[in-house]
Amino acid sequence: MRKPIIAGNWKLNKTISESTELATQLAHSLSDINDREIVIAPIFTCLAATAAAIDNSPIQLAAQNCYPETSGAFTGEISPYFLQDVGCQYVIIGHSERRQLLLETDALINKKLHTAFTTELKIILCIGETLDQRDSGQMLSVLEQQIKGGLANVTAAQMNSVVIAYEPVWAIGTGKTATTEQAQEAHQFIRNLLQQLFNLEVASQIRILYGGSVKPDNVDALMKQEDIDGALVGGASLKAEDFVRIVRFN
Ligand code: 13P
Repeated sequence: MRKPIIAGNWKLNKTISESTELATQLAHSLSDINDREIVIAPIFTCLAATAAAIDNSPIQLAAQNCYPETSGAFTGEISPYFLQDVGCQYVIIGHSERRQLLLETDALINKKLHTAFTTELKIILCIGETLDQRDSGQMLSVLEQQIKGGLANVTAAQMNSVVIAYEPVWAIGTGKTATTEQAQEAHQFIRNLLQQLFNLEVASQIRILYGGSVKPDNVDALMKQEDIDGALVGGASLKAEDFVRIVRFN
């Protein structure tokens, strides 16, 4: 059985005091959870305070990005090494907003993964097609390219610390969720591809999260799909009540 993961990507939101307040509420409301992983990803400046707020709770800490070198003359960057130092267990890599706005390529994303593998961080690798790509029938080839590029030269053993998040770009922040069938089709394709690229064990153990307008009222149906192992939640992770309900999907 794959342990589900519900991860909240707070994106560029919340001050230190707001992050601390939300994290404290979540730690209190979710203290009994042990059958699923819970992850929250505040902005860099809030990581230390959030780490303190969720200490001794089942909630894990993620960063939203990292630089593909460990340390040195890289002004303004943060590496996996320092994310681990501040208390992160996870790092999100390759989010579509960074691919679009900061022109991140699969090659750069792959380099970030390899640097993260030198630490104990677990990685949430995000992939997903745009609406144009879906409408022009390129969805599966885009996903294949992102998986093959992002995971280039990654070993089966290293895949133990990788989680995939399928986030169709057209469903992010739009209120348009993929239907359960659309999401399941993409997840099954990704799992089959991982079996080809690695082996059956990797494919059957890896968690594949769905992201894109996950809300309290659609999470249950999504989580019933065979190949959906959790959710990466944006907007609805900013409200304690909504995120708690999503974590408590049934
Ligand atoms: P929304 O849940 O706001 O659509 O965002 C999804 C997302 O991008 C999570 O990484």
